Amino acid sequence: MVTNKTFTMIKPDGVENGYTGAILEKINAAGFRIVAMKKTQMTRNDAETFYEVHKNQPFFGELIEFMTRGPIVAAILEKENAVEDFRTLIGATNPLEAAAGTIRKLYATSMGENAIHGSDSDENAVIEGNFHFSGREMF
Ligand code: RTP
Ligand code: MG
Repeated sequence: MVTNKTFTMIKPDGVENGYTGAILEKINAAGFRIVAMKKTQMTRNDAETFYEVHKNQPFFGELIEFMTRGPIVAAILEKENAVEDFRTLIGATNPLEAAAGTIRKLYATSMGENAIHGSDSDENAVIEGNFHFSGREMF
């Protein structure tokens, strides 16, 4: 099933480093509409649930520490071909491999602290959006 929505989080490093406005500007300029958005902080339980797929990875502990250490900005975004186009906009997981002009190339610090999340499938976009927002927050 192809939908027109994706889910994103500006990660704690992006917020701490003062890039929230610049990142939202890039998202807006790329033609995404903000359906829902909030600044919040994930609990350990939130982060462990959200990233459960990575629980056996060696970087899992580091990832949970990082994602809970400060506020994030979570949003549901809408655009045709949203999931794929947003992954293109953010760039590769490792900023050293991210294409010029991508959000991670511009604003990420490292493979772990890479400024932004983007859903990797339509199915996960729905799961992740519902994890952070209720129906009455989505416009
Ligand atoms: P995301 O889910 O956050 O959008 O990132 P992604 O799809 O590009 O990468 P994924 O493989 O899903 O990894 C999730 C997040 O875990 C951290 N990570 N650290 N130190 C490492 O080797 C390592 N590998 C992954 C990153 O924060 C990555 O975005
Ligand atoms: Mg991922």
